[in-house]
Amino acid sequence: MGSSELIFRGHDEALPTADAYSPKPPKPWLAVTRPIRYLLLEQRLVFILVGIAIATLFFTLLPPSSSSPHKHDPIPFSFSHFSHELTTPMRYKYYEPHQVGFQSANSGGKIPLGLKSKTLRIVVTGGAGFVGSHLVDRLIARGDSVIVVDNFFTGRKENVMHHFKNPRFELIRHDVVEPLLLEVDQIYHLACPASPVHYKHNPVKTIKTNVVGTLNMLGLAKRVGARFLLTSTSEVYGDPLQHPQVETYWGNVNPIGVRSCYDEGKRTAETLTMDYHRGAGVQVRIARIFNTYGPRMCIDDGRVVSNFVAQALRKEPMTVYGDGKQTRSFQYVSDLVEGLMRLMEGEHVGPFNLGNPGEFTMLELAQVVQETIDPNARIEFRPNTEDDPHKRKPDITKAKNLLGLGT
Ligand SMILES: NC(=O)c1ccc[n+]([C@@H]2O[C@H](COP(=O)([O-])OP(=O)(O)OC[C@H]3O[C@@H](n4cnc5c(N)ncnc54)[C@H](O)[C@@H]3O)[C@@H](O)[C@H]2O)c1
Repeated sequence: MGSSELIFRGHDEALPTADAYSPKPPKPWLAVTRPIRYLLLEQRLVFILVGIAIATLFFTLLPPSSSSPHKHDPIPFSFSHFSHELTTPMRYKYYEPHQVGFQSANSGGKIPLGLKSKTLRIVVTGGAGFVGSHLVDRLIARGDSVIVVDNFFTGRKENVMHHFKNPRFELIRHDVVEPLLLEVDQIYHLACPASPVHYKHNPVKTIKTNVVGTLNMLGLAKRVGARFLLTSTSEVYGDPLQHPQVETYWGNVNPIGVRSCYDEGKRTAETLTMDYHRGAGVQVRIARIFNTYGPRMCIDDGRVVSNFVAQALRKEPMTVYGDGKQTRSFQYVSDLVEGLMRLMEGEHVGPFNLGNPGEFTMLELAQVVQETIDPNARIEFRPNTEDDPHKRKPDITKAKNLLGLGT
């Protein structure tokens, strides 16, 4: 077979027959018009334009972020531990990712400047209690807007009801163990039963209030850029081996005793507060409160001042343990409130001891109550008890100097 034959046969196959299909050669202008026609059909163009507009709007409104939102979050705590207890776990998660670093942590929340109110918006947790209600009185008198958050475990509406008609006052029945979102500038976190009778009543709840409640309020502070003040306690020093107690003393605390739910709860609350400060840039203040007395104290809280007052009012003998020569210190509630407010407004994180450095004997205290309430009230001596919560004495030199209270 010659090469010419091969060439011929190929020509033969390629020859068009009468009924064979022959596609038209593509028209060059169709390459341009076809995509345009596709876009115009079924309003696809409109959808694309709307999509571009939404994307532009989204990226314009998104707050600037320098890096991964989780990069700076050093809090080694997993909220999932409590997810079965949180009613709104997703809302809690929502607090966290906005924190991108130390600088932006307290930028004042997400409210445009023009909409910000001129007065401070302040949350007082535990604001219906003894100390909290006096703090609320002072803040309202200063012209601030105050939101009290309280579950009324030991607090009472009567303590704050004189503010009910004030438009700058709000009261929310809420347990701090559950998360809460509010736009505020400052958070005074007092919510926690303070007397042994109350905090020993349900120790697990006490430690939850101190740990989960503080965590929730710190999360709120971080979310909205609020300043946070924790009311801790002299009980963090436990059964102190050092007198008086300075803030640098780490204490001598029993982790497994009946008071540990309160003592260790407050110690953990302090730890969380400092971790949010160091790790997330939240502005925090820590006050270590010593024995306080004044109006609206719970009469049956088992503490020595209320014991004497209640006994005198009920015409019962006032019980003094031992020889009554043991000394204790008590501060008046208005002095404490002054200290808390100065601490919140000041520059220093703390912790600060807030108490009365001057001491007097239990017998002197009983005599003062006798003179004030009933001169005929009897004083009865009984053998000493081993467990006295009133034996701590503060060294408040540092607090006085830094809060500008003089010496
Ligand atoms: N009073 C003192 O001598 C003293 C001493 C040291 C520390 N403190 C601290 O000061 C703060 C106030 O003490 P106080 O003497 O006014 O006590 P308090 O018992 O009178 O007030 C505590 C308030 O917190 C509320 N509360 C408790 N658990 C709550 C929860 N889970 N959710 C919401 N609200 C809750 C109570 O209902 C109450 O209104 C406490 O944190 C306490 O530990 C007080």
